[in-house]
Parts: sequence; C-alpha cells; structure tokens
Amino acid sequence: MLALILAFLSASIRVNGANITDKLFPLGTTQLTNADVEIFSSLAFGVPENAVEMSSCRAWPGSEDWPSEDEWTRFNASVDGALLRPTPVASACYPGPSYNAATCRWLAQQAGRTHFWIDDPLSVLTQWPQGDTCAVSINPKGNCTRGGSPEYVVNATIVKHIQAAVNFARNKNVRVVIKNTGHDFGGRSTGAGSLSIWVHNLKSFEFLPNHTSDAYRGMAVRIGAGMESWELHNHAAQYNITVVAPGGSTVGAVGGWLAGGGHGGLTSKYGLGSDQALAIDVVTADGRFLTADPRTNQDLFWALRGGGPSTYGVITSVIMKAYPPSRLTSVSVQFSVGQGSTIPASSPFPLYNFTPPLNFTFPNITGSVETFWRGINIAYRFSPRVLAVGGYVYSYIYPLGNSSFTLTSSASIPDLDAATITSLMKPLYDDLNAAGINVTLPMIRTPPSSLSSGGGSRTGGGGGDSPINTRYRSRLFPRTNWENDDLFSKTMTAIRRGIEEGGYTFHGIAYSPTYKIAGSPGADSAVNLAWREAVLHGSYMEVQPSGLSAAQARERDAKARRYTDLWREVTPGAGAYMNEGDPAEPDWQASFYGLENYERLARIKARLDPWGLFWARTTVGSEAWEVITDDGYPGSQNGRLCRVR
Ligand SMILES: Cc1cc2nc3c(=O)[nH]c(=O)nc-3n(C[C@H](O)[C@H](O)[C@H](O)COP(=O)(O)OP(=O)(O)OC[C@H]3O[C@@H](n4cnc5c(N)ncnc54)[C@H](O)[C@@H]3O)c2cc1C
Ligand SMILES: *[C@@H]1O[C@H](CO)[C@@H](O)[C@H](O)[C@H]1NC(C)=O
Ligand SMILES: *[C@@H]1O[C@H](CO)[C@@H](O)[C@H](O)[C@H]1NC(C)=O
Ligand SMILES: *[C@@H]1O[C@H](CO)[C@@H](O)[C@H](O)[C@H]1NC(C)=O
Ligand SMILES: *[C@@H]1O[C@H](CO)[C@@H](O)[C@H](O)[C@H]1NC(C)=O
Ligand SMILES: *[C@@H]1O[C@H](CO)[C@@H](O)[C@H](O)[C@H]1NC(C)=O
Ligand SMILES: *[C@@H]1O[C@H](CO)[C@@H](O)[C@H](O)[C@H]1NC(C)=O
Ligand SMILES: *[C@@H]1O[C@H](CO)[C@@H](O)[C@H](O)[C@H]1NC(C)=O
Ligand SMILES: *[C@@H]1O[C@H](CO)[C@@H](O)[C@H](O)[C@H]1NC(C)=O
Ligand SMILES: *[C@@H]1O[C@H](CO)[C@@H](O)[C@H](O)[C@H]1NC(C)=O
Ligand SMILES: *[C@@H]1O[C@H](CO)[C@@H](O)[C@H](O)[C@H]1NC(C)=O
Repeated sequence: MLALILAFLSASIRVNGANITDKLFPLGTTQLTNADVEIFSSLAFGVPENAVEMSSCRAWPGSEDWPSEDEWTRFNASVDGALLRPTPVASACYPGPSYNAATCRWLAQQAGRTHFWIDDPLSVLTQWPQGDTCAVSINPKGNCTRGGSPEYVVNATIVKHIQAAVNFARNKNVRVVIKNTGHDFGGRSTGAGSLSIWVHNLKSFEFLPNHTSDAYRGMAVRIGAGMESWELHNHAAQYNITVVAPGGSTVGAVGGWLAGGGHGGLTSKYGLGSDQALAIDVVTADGRFLTADPRTNQDLFWALRGGGPSTYGVITSVIMKAYPPSRLTSVSVQFSVGQGSTIPASSPFPLYNFTPPLNFTFPNITGSVETFWRGINIAYRFSPRVLAVGGYVYSYIYPLGNSSFTLTSSASIPDLDAATITSLMKPLYDDLNAAGINVTLPMIRTPPSSLSSGGGSRTGGGGGDSPINTRYRSRLFPRTNWENDDLFSKTMTAIRRGIEEGGYTFHGIAYSPTYKIAGSPGADSAVNLAWREAVLHGSYMEVQPSGLSAAQARERDAKARRYTDLWREVTPGAGAYMNEGDPAEPDWQASFYGLENYERLARIKARLDPWGLFWARTTVGSEAWEVITDDGYPGSQNGRLCRVR
C-alpha cells in the first residue's frame, strides 16, 4: 500500500519556490492505520477476495441489525467528532419542536440567494427522490419526516475520515451514500437509512506548473473533492490559467460531473471533465486509499473517468490539466412567434450561461409557426460550424402556450478575434433573414479580460441554488444526423414533437468532445462513446410537481417516454448523458455507458466492490439492488435498500 502511494511521483513544484515534501495532498497525509483498527474492530479493512454476501437488505434504523448508539459514538470518536445527525432544515416549517416561522420564511425567500443549500449536509437540490417528506413550504401539509435523507453524515476533512466511514458501513451493513454539492438530478446523492460521506469540505487547491507523466507534460492543478466550479475558476484566475469546469457555478468539479463525463465551456476545445483527469486519489470499498493513474491501478483509472459516480470508490482529490487563459466570446440569437412571448420571471429552469432579463419580451417574427420552426432548423443545423472552432452553442426552446414559442441561443467561441467571429456567424443571420426571420448580427466585442476562464461564473458564489424538482431527459445526437438533409429534418421533427405536443422545454447544448480533442490520457477512458460522436446534447426539461402519487409519477414518465422514443428512433445506437438524463431511462446501461463499456465496468465493479457497498440508481451494478418504498414511487430513495431477488 505504502509503496503504491510512494510510487506516485509527480514532478511538480510549488510556484512559491518551496519544495514539495509530501507527495500527497495534505488531506491524504493522515490515513487509517492498523492501530486505529485495533482500538475499534468495526473499522477493519475489507478483503475483496474474502467477501461474503451480506444479508439481503441493508441495516435499517430501529431494527436489530442497526448499530447501537454506543457503536455510533465510538465511530464518531474515530472520525474526530465529525459525525453529524442533522435534522432536515425545512422542519422549521412544520409543526413540532423545530417549528420557527421566521426561519421557514428565510428558507423560502432568501436561502436560495446564498450558499446555504450547498453547505447543508442533508439537502439535495432535486427533492422528489428524497420522497418530498420535508419540503420548504410556508403552508405545509402533514409533518416533516426524514424520508429518503441519510441518517448520519460524516463531515469529512481528511482521508482517514472517509476510510473509517467506508469500513464502518461495510462491516455494519449500513447503506452508504456519497454527497458533494447535492446537485444530482436523479437522487444519486441521497438515501434513507444511510451513512452519508460528505466530501463538500475537501477544498484544497494546488497549482502544478510542470506536471510530468507518461501521458502528459504541462500545467495541472490538484484539487480536493469538494471544489465547486466557481471556486476552481477563482483559483485558476490567480495563476493566470484556465481549466475545464462545470457551467453551473456551484456544481462540483470532482464528483458526479467528472465521473459522469462532465461538460463545460471549453469542452469542444479541450474535452469533457473526465478527459482532464491525470491522476485520481480514491478510497475503495475495502477502505484502502489508492492513487489511480495511467500507470497504477489502470482499470480503476479508466472506470473513474466516465464510468459513473458513487460506484468504484470515494474520490478524495484529482490532478487535472490546466491551460493558458482562454477568452470566450458569445454571440446570441433569439426569436419568437406568438403573443409577445415572454420568459416568465419565475422560470423554473437554470438559465446558466444565458441570462435574459426577467420578463424580457422577445421580438415577434413576422410569419407563422412554420417560419419559427424553419428558423429553428437553420439555427441548429449551423452549430457544427461553431464546434469546428472549439466553441459551443447553448440554447432553450420554450413552449409558451397558444402556439407561442421562443428560442434563446448563444454561441460561445474561444480565442478568436471579432472580425473572424463576425464572418463565421454572418451566414447564420443571412439564412435566417432569407427565411423571413428578422434578426440582426450583433456587433461582436471580445471580452476585455484575457483571464476569462472558460465558461461558468467566477463570481457566482453559489447564489441562486434552491431545491427544485427539475426533471431532465437526454439524448446525445450524433454528427451523422447533421450530415444528411433528410435525416436532419427527421431529427428536428422528433425534437419539435415533444416541445409542441408534449409541452416540454427543450435545452440544447452543442458540443463535440471527440477522441482527438480528448487527447491523452482522456481518449482512453470509460466515457460513453456517444459523447465522442455527438454534436448536440439535447434534453427535455420539466418540473416534477410535489405531492404526486406513484401512479401519477409513472404516468408522467410514460408520457415523456413517448416523446423520447421518437429521439431514439432517429438515433439508433446513440446514447444519453447520465448526469442530465432520465433517471427512468429505458436500457440505461446501453444509453448512459454503452454496452461494451458497461461489461468492462461491471467486471471492475465486481472485483473492487464485491459487497455492493457503493450504490446509486443507474450506476454500474445497481441492477442487483432496489429501494423498497411504501408507495412504490418510481426512483424514490425513501425506503430500505435490498437485493433484488
Ligand atoms: C444548476 C445545475 C447546473 C449544472 N451544470 C452542468 C454543467 O454545466 N455541465 C455538466 O456536465 N453537468 C451539469 N449539471 C449536472 C451535474 O453534472 C450533475 O448534477 C452532477 O451529478 C453533480 O455532481 P456533484 O458532485 O456536484 O453533485 P452530488 O449530487 O453531490 O453528487 C452527484 C453524484 O456523484 C457522486 N459523488 C459525489 N462526490 C463523489 C466523490 N468524491 N466520489 C465518488 N462519487 C461522488 C454522488 O454520490 C452522486 O452519485 C448541472 C446541474 C445543476 C443542478
Ligand atoms: C529544495 O531542496 C533542495 C535539495 O534538497 C535544497 O537545496 C533547496 O534549498 C530547497 N529549497 C527550498 C526553497 O526549500
Ligand atoms: C460527534 O462528536 C462531536 C464532538 O464530540 C459532537 O459534537 C457531535 O454531536 C457528535 N455526533 C453525534 C452524531 O453524536
Ligand atoms: C403530525 O404529528 C402530530 C404529532 O405527532 C400528529 O398528532 C398528527 O396526526 C400528525 N399529522 C399527520 C398528517 O400525520
Ligand atoms: C464541517 O466541517 C468543517 C470543517 O471542520 C466546518 O467548518 C463546518 O462547519 C462543518 N459543517 C457542519 C455542518 O458541521
Ligand atoms: C519541466 O520538467 C521537465 C522534466 O522534469 C524539465 O525537463 C523541464 O525543464 C521543466 N520545465 C520547467 C518550465 O520547469
Ligand atoms: C497570462 O498568460 C498569458 C499566456 O499564457 C500571457 O500572455 C499573459 O501575459 C499572462 N497574464 C498575466 C497577467 O500574467
Ligand atoms: C406579437 O404579436 C402578437 C399577435 O400578433 C401581439 O399581440 C403582440 O403584442 C406582439 N408582441 C410584440 C412584442 O410585438
Ligand atoms: C415580472 O412580471 C411579474 C408579473 O407582471 C411582476 O410581478 C414581476 O415583478 C416582474 N419581475 C421583474 C423582474 O420585472
Ligand atoms: C391562450 O389564449 C386564450 C384566449 O385568448 C387565453 O384565454 C389563454 O390565457 C391563453 N393562454 C396562454 C397560456 O397564454
Ligand atoms: C427588423 O427589426 C428591426 C429592429 O428590431 C426593425 O427596425 C425593422 O423594421 C424590422 N424589419 C422588418 C422587415 O420587420
């Protein structure tokens, strides 16, 4: 083990001129030892080869198999008192000892403008998987219960805490969840009756100006697992570098984003989040702390990049590529049809990267609904030209009722001057004008600062994030669908149906993280190969209302399925983006991973985690387990985790 760690040589130096004495990140310098295990045998390491099947269900609070208070207390001591047993914060809104009207009002009206929800150990932003048992409400119905929230949380600040949590949970048959920011759309960071390993406070950052390995030589950064996009951008700006980071400012740069692929403003230029990783430190299901890189633990390194979150281990830190500063120039196009289409001020969707003024009324187009859709086809057909110069296009099509529709779209292009961008974009405006859509190419101005760090807000600081039940359904549309007039037209008709008939908001992000752009070591990873072929990550979005019955929830799934089936028909063999996909995606193994990758990933999972300790819905190996709920609500985490019989 020790040899493994010492073998991890990075030829890095600190910019301040000091020598690196510890090859490990500070958070990794204190690890779980045999002496700790001698004091408390529940912390014993696991041996995958000797794994025996644990009971058919995970331990359940209140039942005999649940660890005693005394055991939790001893466990708490082993993690330096970092064990939390939080009450759901919205209990302030409900009758009971925590009731507090002022706190409840603050949660409803103010908390989302602060970093509060991201800093809360229990909360997740998409609540329906929790069971909606304690949502913020000024006039709540019923009582607040813990529902699908974890029972205990380890507020980890060093590797040892994570090792202790992994070993304790495995030895005691307690369900584990891993939570970073809680941004997940599919309930993968929450679960009833669990011990949550909370990595949010692992915030370390280190600039490695000259990182050298077989696979890469150049600038890099080493970041702790709790780093958020905006924090990473701020660090990068300090060193006059750029990194690929999530577009959403409080999305974690190391958790679900990196493990699931992860897209950001420079993805067509430098690749996906997964493509950035050069070495990954991780605690595996046996409690051991390993480094995975192109030389050591290669299978694990391959799987951790694109093979899904919460499956192979708890990542503690990552070394990722860094680049010279990039400057992104955005050019937007908007048009509408119908009765003065207005984006409602209360728009439930994250308009990240594009912020029209609230209540902004878009100019009408002169013409019919058909003219609008002709314009849509022109705009989407154009996007590969933006991708070809390393850019991306971010768009929404809003159905506003009564045959009113609005397109908002913004092309962002790195490192080209205004004149080049103008001549690149002009044909789009010419074609739209020729089709009867009155849009004018704006005066292009490149941003003044050369420090613009590649998409995502540097200042966001986490405002604007509140729990909301956004539901995504995704498809990675391949380039071939753009290369043939007839197929392209069929593709756009399929997209139109769900917007026009289904009433879904469409969110399109055009990217092209090809193998060539992924480079080394990125191209050799578990990333869904559908990403490599894609020119558009398209999704239908809606808000799943609170208080649905299981039958109503299933009905909504079935309805969405009718429209996404049309996508599947025109893109046979393509896939979907797991992080912004449908938690109820049919054949998710093929869609989210690709079948060939899935088989290899399943073997790695079985070898490293024969206990099935790390479990989350739609992750590799998750078919073997299910959450048994009272109401049968599809995808709910509000119940006991048991083996599928
Ligand atoms: C407002 C918003 C904006 C978004 N913007 C983007 C975007 O620009 N690009 C993009 O690609 N996606 C984006 N997403 C989707 C995002 O990639 C997913 O929500 C992702 O799961 C978030 O990961 P997290 O670690 O921050 O969140 P969490 O909900 O905390 O975790 C997500 C998953 O990762 C696992 N996990 C977390 N940390 C670790 C760890 N250290 N080790 C192992 N497993 C871990 C969790 O168990 C869970 O399964 C956005 C989402 C939202 C809500
Ligand atoms: C770094 O290490 C070298 C060799 O051990 C030593 O000569 C030098 O003084 C050290 N520099 C600093 C800044 O500590
Ligand atoms: C864990 O220990 C710390 C420090 O003693 C204490 O503050 C905390 O309440 C304990 N956690 C639990 C769940 O008892
Ligand atoms: C809420 O809890 C109170 C006190 O325990 C109980 O009397 C009441 O019936 C509960 N209400 C509901 C809707 O369950
Ligand atoms: C978690 O630990 C960090 C670091 O010790 C501390 O600042 C923070 O307040 C803790 N969070 C909670 C909810 O206890
Ligand atoms: C980077 O490291 C390599 C090999 O260790 C060395 O040859 C090179 O001079 C270094 N470059 C800089 C800028 O320090
Ligand atoms: C930042 O780096 C770029 C190129 O990498 C360089 O041209 C520029 O001068 C640097 N800016 C500052 C403020 O150091
Ligand atoms: C758009 O057209 C509709 C119907 O012709 C009209 O009612 C509305 O006022 C127009 N809106 C704008 C912004 O011109
Ligand atoms: C948007 O319009 C609504 C309804 O007319 C109004 O209440 C709200 O204040 C407006 N918001 C802004 C930001 O103008
Ligand atoms: C659609 O038009 C009808 C009739 O003019 C009106 O009553 C209704 O409010 C409109 N709906 C929307 C969503 O604008
Ligand atoms: C096109 O839009 C511009 C600016 O909004 C306006 O001045 C012009 O009259 C419009 N032209 C037509 C043909 O509608």
